[in-house]
Amino acid sequence: MRIGFLQLRPRFGAVKENVRKAAALLDKMSDAIIVLPELFNTGYLFRNGSELAELAERVPDGYTTVEMQKLAKRRKLTLVFGLAQKHKGAVYNSAVCVTASGKVEAYQKAHLFDREKLFFARGKTLKVVPAGGAKLGLMICFDWIFPEAARSLALQGAQILCHPANLVLPYGQEAMRTRCIENRVFAVTANRIGSERRGTICLTFTGGSQIVSPTGEVLASASDRSESLRVIDVDIGVANDKNVSPNNDIFADRSPSLYGALVRKRR
Ligand code: ACM
Repeated sequence: MRIGFLQLRPRFGAVKENVRKAAALLDKMSDAIIVLPELFNTGYLFRNGSELAELAERVPDGYTTVEMQKLAKRRKLTLVFGLAQKHKGAVYNSAVCVTASGKVEAYQKAHLFDREKLFFARGKTLKVVPAGGAKLGLMICFDWIFPEAARSLALQGAQILCHPANLVLPYGQEAMRTRCIENRVFAVTANRIGSERRGTICLTFTGGSQIVSPTGEVLASASDRSESLRVIDVDIGVANDKNVSPNNDIFADRSPSLYGALVRKRR
């Protein structure tokens, strides 16, 4: 099975330009599962809710999803990409999965980072999507800091954590290696590069997109400087083996009765 990432430098607000550039790069690919960054079509630093609402799109009938769906069908791809999703009167920071067979699924980010909390609604469900011959666990960027999210996706059968990102903290990529080791799954983190300055706020994104194996090995990675498309072959069956020793299955060995504090709300 072929899995990969497309690392990009979107231009803020230039949705058609950003989508066309991604589509042109991906038009050389086929038969693969490819992850793109969080909010790849709009950029990240919204100044306020009305700017966000103007750039948000509906799924499945908004411009970006329709274009990515056409590309997925034409090139036999499964694509996972981030966009701002208009849904039932709110806007979510979502990861959309489209497939060659016409499936469209959206995961709405459950753990919002910093100023995202001012404008985006919080997602309330995690999602595992069977697509492209694998079970894809959808995560978005800051979800990485909640090991419960990756664990829950893995327990629901995810074999690959598909992780569109706009990482700004310096240790998200390293932490994703641990998410892979502790769940024995693959992960594809597709980050963006470049800086965005909007008003008085400036953010620099860390690049370093990567594909990680169930033992935490970085199988492919990008720099923090350039746009980059990497696709590699993996044996997806490796993610079904949860044994770290002949006597340790990391899922069977859990002691859920000890973990009540994990699911109690703390203020
Ligand atoms: C992030 O969650 N975009 C840092």
